[in-house]
Amino acid sequence: MIIAVDGPTASGKGTIAKALAEHFGLPHLDTGLLYRAVGYQCARDGGEPNSLADALAACAFDDSLLDDPVLRSEEVGGLASRVSVHNAVRQALYERQRAFATQEGGAVLDGRDIGTVIAPEAEAKLFITASVEARAQRRYLEMRGRGDDVTLEEIQEDLRRRDERDRNREVAPLIPAEDAMVIDTSALGKEEAIAAAIEAVKQAI
Ligand code: DC
Repeated sequence: MIIAVDGPTASGKGTIAKALAEHFGLPHLDTGLLYRAVGYQCARDGGEPNSLADALAACAFDDSLLDDPVLRSEEVGGLASRVSVHNAVRQALYERQRAFATQEGGAVLDGRDIGTVIAPEAEAKLFITASVEARAQRRYLEMRGRGDDVTLEEIQEDLRRRDERDRNREVAPLIPAEDAMVIDTSALGKEEAIAAAIEAVKQAI
C-alpha cells in the first residue's frame, strides 16, 4: 500500500505522514528533505540555486547530510523551493523516491508531487492544506519556541512567496491529484488532523 501525502509548507503534512506511517506500520520518506539537501549543498558550494548547472551539481549530495538539522531551517526551505523548479533536478531525485514508494510492503511519502508524479498509482492520496494565516501562526510558534527572532508578518510573506513558486512552476506544480482527498487543517488540532487522515486512508483502501 502506498500512501501519498502532498500539500504546501507548514500545512501539517509532515506530522500527518509520520503519524500515518506509525499507525499503518509503514516506512516514511519526507521528500522535501531531498530538495533541501540539494538547496543547501548548492549554496554551500557557492552555487546559485536558480542556475540549473549549479543545482544539478548539488544533486550528488552525501546521504549523511539528510540527518543534519540545518536542513530544517526556513532559509534552506527557500533554497529547496528554488532548486526544485528545475526539471533536471526533479529527474535526478525521481528514482530514489520511486524506489522508496514501490518497496515491498508499501510506504508513506510526503511532498508536493507524490500523488501526481512519483506514485500516481498510490492507493491513498491525501492533500493537506490550511490557510496561510493558520500555517504562519504554527510556524511562528515553532520558531519562537526555538528562540528564532522572527515576526508573524515575515513568516506570512515567506509562505506566500514559497506557495506561489511551488504552485506556478512548470514542472510538477503543487496541485491536488484528481483523486486526492483534501483535508483542511486550519481549524484542526494536531490529534484531530491525524484522526481525519487515518479515517481518509481507511476509506480509500
Ligand atoms: O516540504 P518542504 O518544506 O520540506 O519542501 C521544501 C521545498 O522543496 C518546497 O518548497 C518545494 C520542494 N519540494 C518539491 O518540489 N517536491 C517535493 N516532493 C518536496 C519538496
